[in-house]
Amino acid sequence: MTAHETPHPPGEGGAPDPAGTPAGPAAPAPGRRRRAVVAVALVVVLLALLVVPLVSTLQPAYYARYPGLGERMDNWAVSTHSRMSCVSCHVHPGARGFAAFAVRSIPAFYSRLVFGPSEDNLLEAPDRDMCQTCHTAYRQVSADGDLLIPHRAHVEILEVDCVVCHRDLVHAESPEGFNRPQMRMCLEECHNGEIAGNECVKCHTRKHVPDDHLRDDWLQIHAERADTEECGSCHEWTPDYCEDCHSQRPASHVGNWKSGHAERARTHGSGCLVCHGGAAFCEECH
Ligand code: HEC
Ligand code: HEC
Ligand code: HEC
Ligand code: HEC
Ligand code: HEC
Ligand code: HEC
Ligand code: HEC
Ligand code: HEC
Repeated sequence: MTAHETPHPPGEGGAPDPAGTPAGPAAPAPGRRRRAVVAVALVVVLLALLVVPLVSTLQPAYYARYPGLGERMDNWAVSTHSRMSCVSCHVHPGARGFAAFAVRSIPAFYSRLVFGPSEDNLLEAPDRDMCQTCHTAYRQVSADGDLLIPHRAHVEILEVDCVVCHRDLVHAESPEGFNRPQMRMCLEECHNGEIAGNECVKCHTRKHVPDDHLRDDWLQIHAERADTEECGSCHEWTPDYCEDCHSQRPASHVGNWKSGHAERARTHGSGCLVCHGGAAFCEECH
């Protein structure tokens, strides 16, 4: 007892001490506990107010009510990636990306509760990092072996984003879901013969110029071959390939062709008519 009293200031007196000692620890307990309960409740409510919107905005169903997303949703649902949620492609991987999404999505959730769906898009456009959370291997040739796709060269050296080529993969209209990159896109955007080569063998293993094409008389004999051989496997991608050439002045029409055509007309008379329509053309002068 005496040892206990020694550190206390002497002015307090001895009388309240025995009464105060048992009351001391008991008196603040109900208040502190209440405060603790209130604090815990507040934290729980606050967490719920943050977690509920965050969890909601992670669900694909949340976006079903966004105006303007309708078609994107429908096409995603039938795509190869229909089992992947929106955020797996549209939220940057890692803690920072997730935090940035939380900062956007929580206010957006409440704004939608109050004002209804907004036109603003919560989701980031996908970039290479997002695709590469799942796709780590680089395919160099298509599954059927015909198409060369140097993925590593395009992605790492040229730094072309996956989406530049695979933009139609998920959200474009396609009955089978998976929309492949189009040859037309390759040729128009880079492989135009200037920025990058456009020879068939640059991209295809089975579309090299066939041997018969190298014959000197190919232009004279190709017509007969067209009846017996399949030309479309290489030429069908440009529907007007044949017609485009047939509407141009051929190499034979050089020099004084007007007077020189007689010789060729005798040997290839019917070949003239594929471009010149019918005999009416010849009859203009003859
Ligand atoms: C496998 C990856 C993938 C998944 C999963 C995915 N998307 Fe996309 N999304 C893309 C690609 C690629 C584009 C860019 C091409 C385009 O605009 O269509 C895109 C574009 C978008 C855009 C336009 C973004 C912009 O900035 O222009 C919106 C909005 C969008 N997606 C919403 C969704 C929603 C909602 C879901 C879930 C139902 C979803 N996406 C699922 C890959 C994906
Ligand atoms: C959450 C994981 C995931 C993400 C993210 C993802 N993919 Fe995929 N992807 C898959 C799976 C799984 C398949 C199916 C693989 C299979 O069938 O062999 C697939 C298939 C594909 C295919 C082939 C489709 C087919 O039908 O054969 C392409 C092309 C593709 N993904 C490109 C992309 C691109 C581009 C992105 C980024 C915009 C992306 N993926 C993001 C998981 C993902
Ligand atoms: C330069 C254009 C280009 C870029 C960039 C590109 N791809 Fe591709 N990718 C293609 C082409 C073309 C195909 C072949 C499609 C076909 O078979 O018709 C393909 C095929 C694929 C396939 C399917 C392979 C299979 O199994 O048949 C996957 C998966 C894929 N790409 C993922 C990616 C990912 C992930 C990225 C980014 C890291 C990417 N691609 C970047 C052009 C590109
Ligand atoms: C820059 C790359 C590139 C070049 C150059 C290229 N192609 Fe393609 N080609 C593609 C891609 C990618 C596809 C698959 C997508 C499609 O069908 O559009 C394709 C598809 C095709 C198809 C349809 C699919 C098939 O296998 O039947 C034909 C036919 C074709 N190419 C012929 C040619 C011919 C002929 C040349 C040369 C005059 C050529 N391509 C040059 C990239 C290329
Ligand atoms: C294996 C692929 C392949 C097949 C099959 C094919 N071609 Fe070609 N053809 C080519 C390529 C490649 C070229 C050169 C295209 C270019 O330079 O734009 C070409 C060029 C041509 C030319 C232009 C030649 C020139 O001198 O300018 C004609 C005409 C032609 N093909 C007709 C045909 C006909 C007719 C058939 C069917 C009997 C056929 N091709 C089948 C690949 C093919
Ligand atoms: C490089 C230009 C060029 C291309 C490309 C071309 N042709 Fe021709 N075609 C000609 C010429 C020149 C003739 C006339 C040949 C002659 O002198 O007999 C001709 C004639 C023909 C004839 C008529 C021959 C006859 O005797 O009646 C047919 C049929 C024909 N081509 C089919 C095709 C087909 C099919 C394709 C596409 C696969 C094609 N051509 C592509 C230049 C071309
Ligand atoms: C590949 C298509 C093609 C073929 C095959 C072709 N021509 Fe022509 N020809 C043309 C074109 C294009 C012109 C120019 C028409 C114009 O300027 O209005 C032309 C013009 C002519 C002219 C007008 C004179 C001139 O110099 O403008 C004569 C004559 C002629 N062709 C005769 C022939 C004869 C004969 C043959 C067969 C041996 C033949 N052509 C085969 C495409 C062709
Ligand atoms: C622009 C007028 C013109 C057109 C169109 C024309 N020709 Fe001629 N053709 C001539 C002239 C002029 C001669 C005489 C040339 C000479 O003898 O030097 C000639 C001579 C000929 C000869 C030789 C005459 C002979 O009796 O020996 C033949 C064959 C011939 N043309 C075929 C054709 C055919 C086939 C066509 C249609 C594809 C055609 N020509 C279209 C002007 C034309």
